Amino acid sequence: MNRRNFLKAVGTGALTLFLSGCGLSALADEKNKKSAAAPEKGSVSGGKNMKIVVLNSSPHSNSESTSKYLSGRFTEGAKSAGHEVFVFDAAREETHPCSGCDRCGMDGPCVWKDAIEDNLMPKMLEADLLVLVTPLYYYGMSAQLKTIVDRFYSRTERLHGKKSIIMATAYNSADWTMEALSAHYDTLVRYMEWQDVGQVWATGCGSRSLVERSAFGDMAYNIGANL
Ligand SMILES: Cc1cc2nc3c(=O)[nH]c(=O)nc-3n(C[C@H](O)[C@H](O)[C@H](O)COP(=O)(O)O)c2cc1C
Repeated sequence: MNRRNFLKAVGTGALTLFLSGCGLSALADEKNKKSAAAPEKGSVSGGKNMKIVVLNSSPHSNSESTSKYLSGRFTEGAKSAGHEVFVFDAAREETHPCSGCDRCGMDGPCVWKDAIEDNLMPKMLEADLLVLVTPLYYYGMSAQLKTIVDRFYSRTERLHGKKSIIMATAYNSADWTMEALSAHYDTLVRYMEWQDVGQVWATGCGSRSLVERSAFGDMAYNIGANL
């Protein structure tokens, strides 16, 4: 489906999108009232320097990606506050989906010796905070991010108790755009016994210029800087 047909399919004309302005209409919706609330400075970390893992999952380049723009702004903020940030670019690494073999017995190691097992998992296990970053793909997370999430299986319990953040970008700006992904994230947080500490639902942000003009970049920065 090309971009024009996609826009038709989601019921959002380009003019409406342009006039609504990235972030402006989105700011009005419930989801973004939640995401606008940056934590009170130091309240998440308790003043300690945290280890943070950012899970990027867009196949777009760093200079084109809308979701990586947000995670980049978040990272700037988090580093300015003294936190250590490890960024994993799922679309640029060798990864494999969980094969369901259960050889890990949900307590590792995984049979796949790839970038998830060798580089990412050790970082995630020692992290205080995981940041899930995704473009909206058919109203869910990207396959690249879902591949990582499914590989949590090999260390499910050992990944319990982390703090988490989600940042997602989408073309559509309707108020229901992020509903399914938001419900999935809430369920994941509950199952993984995580503590959600921030959400950025960047609707109406289908291109780099739109997201850069929006309020979502500052939102992401402030969440990082206030941890
Ligand atoms: C395969 C695919 C599926 C998409 N599905 C949706 C969708 O369901 N809803 C939506 O609003 N935008 C959808 N989009 C648009 C992207 O979410 C949007 O362009 C986003 O800003 C891309 O982020 P990125 O540059 O970080 O990859 C889709 C794009 C692609 C390529």
